[in-house]
Amino acid sequence: MSLQQIDATLQRELQQLAEQGRAKPRERVITDYVPAKNGSGPRYRLEGQQGLFIRMNSNSYLSLGNHPALIAAADEATRRFGTGPGAVRFIDGTYCHHTALEKRIALFMDKPAAKIFNSAYTANCGLALAINSATTLWAGDRLNHNSIIRAMRICGVPGENKAIFNHNDVQDLDRCLDSAAPGITRVIVVFDGIFSMRGDFAPTDRILQVIEKHKDRFADGIISVIDDSHGIGAYGKTGRGTAEFCGAAPDIIVGTFGKAFGVNGGFVCTSATIVETIRQKADTYIYTNPLSMADCAAATRAIDICDSKEGLDLLKTLNRRTRQFREGLEQIGLETIPGPHPIVPLLVRDTMRTRMLVNGLFDHGILAVGLTFPVVPKGDETIRFQINCAHTKADIDYVLEIMAKLVKKQGCK
Ligand SMILES: Cc1ncc(COP(=O)(O)O)c(C=O)c1O
Repeated sequence: MSLQQIDATLQRELQQLAEQGRAKPRERVITDYVPAKNGSGPRYRLEGQQGLFIRMNSNSYLSLGNHPALIAAADEATRRFGTGPGAVRFIDGTYCHHTALEKRIALFMDKPAAKIFNSAYTANCGLALAINSATTLWAGDRLNHNSIIRAMRICGVPGENKAIFNHNDVQDLDRCLDSAAPGITRVIVVFDGIFSMRGDFAPTDRILQVIEKHKDRFADGIISVIDDSHGIGAYGKTGRGTAEFCGAAPDIIVGTFGKAFGVNGGFVCTSATIVETIRQKADTYIYTNPLSMADCAAATRAIDICDSKEGLDLLKTLNRRTRQFREGLEQIGLETIPGPHPIVPLLVRDTMRTRMLVNGLFDHGILAVGLTFPVVPKGDETIRFQINCAHTKADIDYVLEIMAKLVKKQGCK
């Protein structure tokens, strides 16, 4: 009956979180998907709510999740092999769909090999477990995603083997590398491609230039790792992400199938040796069932689409809608972080106003995310909008019209 005791302690902790304003609100439950019609993009129904909602908070930038070809691929794989793999990869849980997806994503990212994971989160953890050593220095951007920070903790990287450089500040990275301790034999510079709370991008070309300057000082060199979960598929001329946008080629690329590709799962693309090291040493790859064959078949089809004329057209639509939205917010006189990515942060800079605006949007059938402390620093309170290519011109106009009304009524700054 120890549960009663631990429950009482945990309830006190949950209460504290709520009192500090740090508790997450209850999750909304989507109960229905209503396909696009009559000039409107898709809409959603929510449990306990009247009416339909437009999602301005989905990572599915190319709206591939409901693409008939992906659904057909998932359906075919399930009918052929069933729903689950039945075991981890090394105990005969590897199907042709897993290896086909690995080949396809490696080809798309122009790397020799790839390993897939259940998510980008577990990909970051697995990669770190594979390439860390006792004499490795990890240098990371201050705003890196939680999965990168957690990955270092899982590896037990000690404080003296970690260096944090200021967000997108290559001079500060230079300083971090200059001050590497004498016993360091390997350096890993790791950064998000697109920063998910801000929609800005890592200056990957300039980061690689700084790395080049220092690389001969360490026996194993300096390895660059970009986690471009929000960039791949949605950014760069052909959807290869931030590296393409910046004209640079980091050594290791981490990404997700769960955002622009519209499915689920994560991946690491890099040299064949690192990929084999992952297979041998990455616990988050070895000791857990892999993605379903349906996920892999759908993700492979998603990459095929991204790599085709259809994909390029989707990217163009995404860019057009993003521009429409960004320009509209500017016309209303609102502050955003400039840039071409479909993550569009509206800087409200006040917790109460952020909440009121998000609630106002909800009352008009619009789902957007309010980011307040501690997710973002105090003073950077933001509403994060995400554009996807199923949004129609009329959808974007509608959201802008409502934003203008709300701001007029309750202010934004
Ligand atoms: C940079 C970055 N890495 C990893 C993830 C996690 O992706 P996944 O849902 O595939 O674990 C995210 C998503 O929020 C992200 O922004």
